[in-house]
Parts: sequence; structure tokens; C-alpha cells
Amino acid sequence: MDQALPISETGAKIPPRRTFAIISHPDAGKTTLTEKLLLFGGAIREAGMVKARQDRRQTRSDWMKIERQRGISVTSSVMTFEFGGAVFNLLDTPGHEDFSEDTYRTLTAVDSAVMVIDAAKGIELQTKKLFEVCRLRNIPITTFINKVDREGQNPFELLDEIANTLALDITPMVWPIGTGGLFRGCYDLRSNRLVSAVKPGQDPAGVKFDIPANQQAQLEEDVELIRAAYPEFDQQAFSEGHLTPVYFGSALKDYSVRELLEGLVANAPAPQPRAADTRVVEPTEIPVTGFVFKVQANMDPQHRDRIAFTRICSGKFVRGMKLIHSRTLKPMAIQAPIFFFAQDRSLAEEAYPGDIIGIPNHGTLRVGDTLTEGEKLRFTGIPDFAPEILRRVRLADPMKAKQMRKALEDLAEEGVTQVFRPMTGAEWIVGVVGALQLDVLSSRIEQEYSVPVAFEAAPYDTARWIFSEDQARLKTFIEQNKSAMSEDREGAPVYLVRNSWELNRMKDNFPEITFSATRERR
Ligand code: G4P
Repeated sequence: MDQALPISETGAKIPPRRTFAIISHPDAGKTTLTEKLLLFGGAIREAGMVKARQDRRQTRSDWMKIERQRGISVTSSVMTFEFGGAVFNLLDTPGHEDFSEDTYRTLTAVDSAVMVIDAAKGIELQTKKLFEVCRLRNIPITTFINKVDREGQNPFELLDEIANTLALDITPMVWPIGTGGLFRGCYDLRSNRLVSAVKPGQDPAGVKFDIPANQQAQLEEDVELIRAAYPEFDQQAFSEGHLTPVYFGSALKDYSVRELLEGLVANAPAPQPRAADTRVVEPTEIPVTGFVFKVQANMDPQHRDRIAFTRICSGKFVRGMKLIHSRTLKPMAIQAPIFFFAQDRSLAEEAYPGDIIGIPNHGTLRVGDTLTEGEKLRFTGIPDFAPEILRRVRLADPMKAKQMRKALEDLAEEGVTQVFRPMTGAEWIVGVVGALQLDVLSSRIEQEYSVPVAFEAAPYDTARWIFSEDQARLKTFIEQNKSAMSEDREGAPVYLVRNSWELNRMKDNFPEITFSATRERR
């Protein structure tokens, strides 16, 4: 699976990278599993630290209080750890559905995903939505069916549900022996051995257990059925996103976590080639390329810093390197790039394809930006989505118009909101995908820019970017619909849509115009 990576200065072999995200419905066990992976990787020492860290971070600024109050995590971060000779970069995705845009962009930066399912609940709404995003991008999925230590659905029924709901082929890798009160441990279908709970740092060979005769007979029957009914693991089908290996286990009780990690080392894809506007970039190429998939401003309110989370796509990045910013064509010396760990940050001296570096900057880097050593290319596939909620921005204090504009522009760059400036009229319109985003937006504008702000209903359902080969027709459309026209952050024309009936009528009247629900960031 692993392509040859560039060699480090000392000639040492670079450990293979596994850059992945965990997707799940809230409560399925993502936090617990993340923590166990970090424990196995030696990145943290005690359980409970991931949550503790979240709590500490949430007290830092007021908008994070929203997260705490609602018991959700809306910020993504990157966690790096090592296991089995590989370097893992785990990109955390916010679990709440309101933040699907942010999640989507994070998924543009991974090579595979682990889907966590609660054994009692099966496929839930948010799992399915996130899965669809992975499917769009052909991201290979490894499935972890969690909480088998509790009463759950029959394992064969769970596999059927995955196969039918998600239209995937399935290869069971680790199988549960009994569930709920009768749960005894697991069976590794690849090595044909019983596996018990293995704690981080424990030698699996030292952990032995027996199962009662009746459960032994049941297990033999199950294994026979599995071998007859499910295909063997097929690397190509997995890499193309058609087949998912399935691990039954318990993140809380340490069942199958080690096997999952071993499976990711053995099978999960190494950094993949990536499409750019002019060509496909291979990870083995010598010149450095990368793209920004997330910008987080004011992580530390004391410094008003801005971190551009950048995925290295090719080459060997070295601190201090000058990279060309594809949008402005200006060179940037990357003096203080950051690596993220579970609890720490450190200066990134060297980074390789698949690694994520944080680049501190003052607003030059935006989501979707590409960095290269000079070649003019732009990585594609990082879109803006049509907002589902549009609001007029009402400024309580007209003297603060300038600060407001700055706040909206900053937060739009960060991807917290989209802003639209109507072609007629002076009031800005903000657009978000989920209602919670509005709370975050107003809270951050007040806290970080000291501008009290309110949002008023706007008479629009959604928005569409408009494009056409026929510039004259586009102009006519804009002239005829001026009161519903606006410009996005970058000046692209956007039609604000009152309702679907009106949109359909416009599509009929102007067949030469494309009304697009997404727009690629330039
Ligand atoms: P999330 O990040 O996906 O939202 O889920 P999280 O890990 O927070 O887990 C949700 C609940 O499920 C937690 O219980 C957690 O302890 C429990 N859990 C996770 N994995 C397993 C498992 O393998 N077996 C069992 N039995 N439970 C599991 P909680 O009571 O809501 O939180 P806590 O007070 O224990 O932290």
C-alpha cells in the first residue's frame, strides 16, 4: 500500500502515514475510541484526558461556552500518534450536524475514515450523512461496531444493515463471542484466535481466556457461516470504497482496539494522489505542495492568532521554507509551522505527505488555498455549500459598521459563516448551514470584535451561485432580478432564492444559466 516517501536528511526511512478521521453519530463512542487510540499510541497517559482537555479549552473563550452548554464539540483538531511503525494523523470532526460544512472540509484532507457504530443502535442519521460524504470522495471506510459488551443487535443483522443501508460489501475481521451479559471476548477471523481485552502497553500474547462449550459451538457455527456468506478482505475493493472491513469491539473495555490499529497499519491507504486544476499531484513528487482545509482564528484570544490547518500533499516540507501562495502568487516563508498532539503543540521541523501542519498567519491563508514551491496549481474539491438559513445582519450601533464588516469578513474566511452583500440595499446577509452556527457567529462577533449584533429574518430559503458561458444572458438575469442578487465574499454573483417554485421558474426561463448549490473555493 505504501508508496515510497521522500527520505529524511539522515537517510532514515520515513514511517508510513495514516491520515484519517472518525465518523459517527453522537454517543456512539468516538471520544472513547479516540482516547484509546491515543493511549495505544502513547500520546496520552491516562484515560479521561481527551475530555479534560476539551473542558479546559472550552473555558478559554466565551463562544466555546456554547459547546459546553450544549454538550457538543464544534472545533476540529488534529492528533498525531505512532503505532506499529506508522505515524497516525487523526483529524477530529465535529459531531454535531449543524457543522457539516466544517466536517466536509476536514474529510477532504483524509485518506480514510473509521466509522463507529453503536451495536445497539446500528446505522444512525449522522453516521449515514457522513458516510455519504465519504462515498462522494471514495474514501475507504473501516467499521468499528462499538459497545459489544452491552446488550446489542444480533451481529449478523448489524452486518446486513450496513450492507443494505450503505450498499457496501463487508468483510468481518473481528467477531464478538456473545453479547451483553453473555459477552466473553472476540475472535480474530484473520489470525483465527481468541482475543480478549488488551490494554495499551499490554502484551496480547499474555492474555488468555476460555469460553464455555456451548459458546464455543456457537462461535464455530458463526465462523463457518461468515466464511460462506462474506467475501475475503480485498484490498482493492476497500481502497476504492466498495468494501468495509468490520471490527466488533468495545472501546471502553479495550476489545478490538489493538486489532483495529493493526488493521489500519496493514490496510488503510497511505497518502493518496490529489487532483489539482492542471494535473494530479503524486505524494512521491519532490516539490512540496499542500492545501488549507480549515482555518481557526483566535485559538488563543491573547494573541488573536489564526492557524491555517494545511495538509502536505507532496514533497518534504522543512521549516523556514518559502512557499508560493496560489491565489495571490506571493511567497510566504513558513517560519513557525505547528504540529498538533493530543495535549501539546510543537514546532514542525519537517513534515511529509499526509501530515497536517498549522501555519500561523494574519488572514492571508483561507480555506481552499494551495501552497506550492512555485508551480501554478490549485487543489480542487473544497467547496462552499449553499446556506440553508439566511439572515439579515442588524447593527445595534451604526458607529461600528467598520468593525462589523471586518468581523464578518474574518469569520467568513474562517468558514464560520458565508456573507452576501446585496446588489441593492446596504444590509449584509449571512448564510449558514445549521442554526447553531448563528449562535456561534453572534457570540464570536460580540466577544472578539466587541460589536453587538442581531440577526433578522430574511425572505430567502437558500442561495445559488450563478454561472453561464453566455455572459450577455447572465447580465440580463442579474438586471432583471437585481433585488434578489448579491455578491459573495469574493464578488461572485449569488441569486438569493425565495422558494423552490421561484427557483424552478428561473431555471425554466434561463436554461443557459447554471444555478449551483456549491461553489469551489478559488
Ligand atoms: P461520542 O464521542 O461518540 O459522543 O461518545 P463517547 O465516547 O462520549 O461515549 C458515549 C457514552 O458511551 C459514554 O458514556 C461512554 O462511556 C460510553 N461508551 C463508549 N464506548 C463504550 C463501550 O465500548 N461500551 C460501553 N458499555 N459503553 C461505552 P456516558 O455515560 O455518556 O459518559 P461517561 O460519563 O462514561 O464519560
